[in-house]
Amino acid sequence: MRKKLVVGNWKMNLLRNEGISLVNNILKNISVDISVNIVLAPSFLHLYKVSKMTSDLTYLSTSAQDCSLNSNGSFTGEVSAEMIFSCGAEYVILGHSERRSNFQETNRELRTKTSEAISNNLNVIFCCGESIKQRKDNTYFDWIKSQISEGLFHLSASDFANIVIAYEPIWAIGTGTNANSRQAQEVHEFIRTLVEEKYDKNIADNTSILYGGSCNSANAIELFSQNDVDGGLIGGASLDYNEFISIINSF
Ligand code: 13P
Repeated sequence: MRKKLVVGNWKMNLLRNEGISLVNNILKNISVDISVNIVLAPSFLHLYKVSKMTSDLTYLSTSAQDCSLNSNGSFTGEVSAEMIFSCGAEYVILGHSERRSNFQETNRELRTKTSEAISNNLNVIFCCGESIKQRKDNTYFDWIKSQISEGLFHLSASDFANIVIAYEPIWAIGTGTNANSRQAQEVHEFIRTLVEEKYDKNIADNTSILYGGSCNSANAIELFSQNDVDGGLIGGASLDYNEFISIINSF
């Protein structure tokens, strides 16, 4: 059965002490018998500390927000997948729209990053999603199909078991306007069908597909109740432990 996941993407927020305090508050207030897997994605600088703080908990793991295309060597400022794994993380987020637009990341680069991550034992949370123009023009299915097929479909079936897909419409990120549950379900079902056509039904049924974009405690229950929505990739609302725990408890 596919995993239910709630991922907190801290983006470039929280100083060290603020991050530690957020993790402590989550740990203090979360019920221990939750059936959801929680993933925290702090900055690279805080990844080792957060991984240490949560290493005893089977339901909680950590993620980086990106990794290098390259394995090692003279790439000043870069962080490799192997380094991320060595700091205790189990996941890496790849292809976030903020990286695609601010750092011109291409599907071709993401294809390499995905392989690099998987060959260094990381699970990948692979982001896709359309702009408002593509939604209005009705070209969003083609766009999402190209993001997923160009970024992921070089993987073997066994490697694909390490992939989580996150649908994050760009128009919903940080805007306060989430995709409604019908819009989210429509795209998630489309993504699952793409995976089934490329691999098989079993792999598609076992792939977790998360929704991201202004997901909060007020809309999570409705979004997570959809057949093909297996959790959320949460930005702003993951920085407030009350809000984040309410989202986790929305399953
Ligand atoms: P918000 O939840 O702040 O809209 O951000 C979503 C996101 O980009 C998570 O990766």
